[in-house]
Amino acid sequence: MRVIRKATYEEASKACAELIASQIRLKPDCKVGLATGSTPVGTYKALVDFYKEGSLDFSRVVTANLDEYRGLGGDHDQSYRYFMNTNLFDHVNIDKKNTFVPDGLEADAVKACTDYDAILKSLGHLDIQLLGIGGDGHIGFNEPADAFCVNTQCIDLEKQTIEDNARLFFNGKIDEVPTQAYTMGIGYIMKSTTVILMATGAGKKDIVEKAFTGPVTPSVPASILQLHPNVVVIGDEAAISEKVVAAAD
Ligand code: GLP
Repeated sequence: MRVIRKATYEEASKACAELIASQIRLKPDCKVGLATGSTPVGTYKALVDFYKEGSLDFSRVVTANLDEYRGLGGDHDQSYRYFMNTNLFDHVNIDKKNTFVPDGLEADAVKACTDYDAILKSLGHLDIQLLGIGGDGHIGFNEPADAFCVNTQCIDLEKQTIEDNARLFFNGKIDEVPTQAYTMGIGYIMKSTTVILMATGAGKKDIVEKAFTGPVTPSVPASILQLHPNVVVIGDEAAISEKVVAAAD
């Protein structure tokens, strides 16, 4: 595990964007796993800046997102497809046909999951996967469970996740937050050649410490990343404790 600890959110975002940009420059047709939430917004801004400066080309990049709310279509301003379009895809030269997000409008949950797994299988493994971390340790929307889920699944969101997302995204309207989501499984996340987990803000400090210095357990889904051979934890001083820095290889 590598740890990159920066003083501020902006610096951490820039470092995260640099890692993703380096991967794209090294392999222009690389496959990149993307995350949503408030954490990666600064990273996407920096990637858009690189593109506008002419130092980054997305024309051959393929992306796969981690998750989508069940019941929300891409036009809904709280859907993750909408988030990706407005924060990144609309501002760079990516071909949207090469950007994949689970289909939130597929009501048949089994079909939604098998369809997304078929897409992921056709992509093969990702070169780099960006992750945030939920307050309860979830990655994508893989909530704490009795076992690590390998494939795409339809998940019942935990109360804490619904509350967190209402506060951050749904203008506090908890009744409007969907209670279920489709999420890439942990098995596929673990197949990515490189995994970056980004965490910022004091609110993430305890869970990041638990995930990277505690036992590997499905009750803290992000803890599985301790077993990944090439994981980078990036964050600000508020979120990354000395204990996490000391746990780096
Ligand atoms: C949601 C997303 C996760 C994200 C998490 C944390 O639950 N599905 O992928 O990591 O939120 O969000 P934030 O970055 O806003 O703290």
